[in-house]
Amino acid sequence: MATLKAVRGTRDLLPPETALWNRIETTARAVFARYNFGEIRTPIFEDTGLFARGVGEETDIVSKEMFTWEDRARAASEKAQMLTLRPENTAGVVRAYIEHKLGESGQLQKLYYIGPQFRRERPQKGRYRQFWQIGAEVIGPPSSGSESPLRDAEVLEMLATLLDEMGITGWTLELNSVGSAADRARYNETLRAAFEPVVGKMCADCQRRAVTNPLRVLDCKVPEDQPIIATLPVIADSLDEESKNHFAAVKAALDAAGVTFTLNPRLVRGLDYYTRTTFEFTHGGLGAQNAILGGGRYDGLSEAIGGPKAPGIGFAMGLDRLVLTLQAQEAAQPAVVPAKKLDAYIAPLGEGLNAAALALARELRRGGLSVELGDGSFRLKKSFEAADRVARKIVIMGEDELASGILTVKDFATAIQTKVPRVDLAEFLKN
Ligand code: HAM
Repeated sequence: MATLKAVRGTRDLLPPETALWNRIETTARAVFARYNFGEIRTPIFEDTGLFARGVGEETDIVSKEMFTWEDRARAASEKAQMLTLRPENTAGVVRAYIEHKLGESGQLQKLYYIGPQFRRERPQKGRYRQFWQIGAEVIGPPSSGSESPLRDAEVLEMLATLLDEMGITGWTLELNSVGSAADRARYNETLRAAFEPVVGKMCADCQRRAVTNPLRVLDCKVPEDQPIIATLPVIADSLDEESKNHFAAVKAALDAAGVTFTLNPRLVRGLDYYTRTTFEFTHGGLGAQNAILGGGRYDGLSEAIGGPKAPGIGFAMGLDRLVLTLQAQEAAQPAVVPAKKLDAYIAPLGEGLNAAALALARELRRGGLSVELGDGSFRLKKSFEAADRVARKIVIMGEDELASGILTVKDFATAIQTKVPRVDLAEFLKN
């Protein structure tokens, strides 16, 4: 029988690597708390329409990459529904914002999430079909200040702090503005005109998008099309005064905070909901998939999915890519941190002492110590070898120890063996 394996583009995350995942998540939660963000958890699947309307029909994500299925009606009273594994979390957060009327408080909502997302992309290093994002959204009615360029700058400043605290060095912040919906409509017309003489030479996707959603031509990855795309007009020239002023204020606030950035006029991002500020943080160590995170403003998203006016800005970082970056940094410059060992390993001498060893392990673990429990079927030599691999000290639990209440403890670092009364054991093991 063929052995079953994890599905293409998905993978198992195992210890000790998961410790690094945990460290990143813990850092993120701590930083989010300092910036007054609360956690939101939305479902992993949603009605397909949410992504079609939110992310955009013509995006690669919606047109090619979603895991979608028909959830059959189970009774005559029910209707079949098209469902999709979330390819990203912003649409879900905004749906929840509308559904729970979070705007009615009048307050700015600052929400973060950590969870898996799903896209049917061609798997390669740093690109998976199930991947993880750490993201956040700042959204609220205009009266809450949600449209202010200060929000954009604050989110970007937080990201710089977050990456620094995670230990990621050498990142670049690429920044652009894609303007308001009206600016984009104007830009799309400019693009349509620019396509006229050249579109015949472009790929089939570009030819279609040149008609339906010209901006999306900038997402094209076909190498032969790139020289043509390089000559297209940039969106900065289509921005109106208001959008230009908004962008100028974002840049000025970043300068004041000392967050460095690079302007990238081609950064339009692969999702249709963006307006005004868009950004990506890239890292040279990642190869082709060099974006560790991306985000931007989405002032019309709530209305696009049937909600009230609720401007917002947010981002999502690829957790898989953060891990790859940190691992590459570690390989290039290994830190000399000794592996953390457990406080103790308990070795029962004979199967008859297993129960007593479990009771001792329970006592120590509930006292806050990290303990591994051996097995009475092991010979003493095997117990010592196993203990030396994982723990700083071994505690012998034999008949004598059980009867006398005095345990034999060996410290592997000093090779000294000590008799310790059970009441003093926890204290002794801590040192
Ligand atoms: P995105 O640029 O599609 O934006 O994804 C954000 C990040 O998720 C990327 O920069 C990358 O690090 C990671 N990522 C995306 N696809 C994959 C993949 N197949 N494998 C591994 N990592 C991946 C969004 O998702 C927006 N929702 C971000 C946002 C939030 N904009 C506003 N608010």
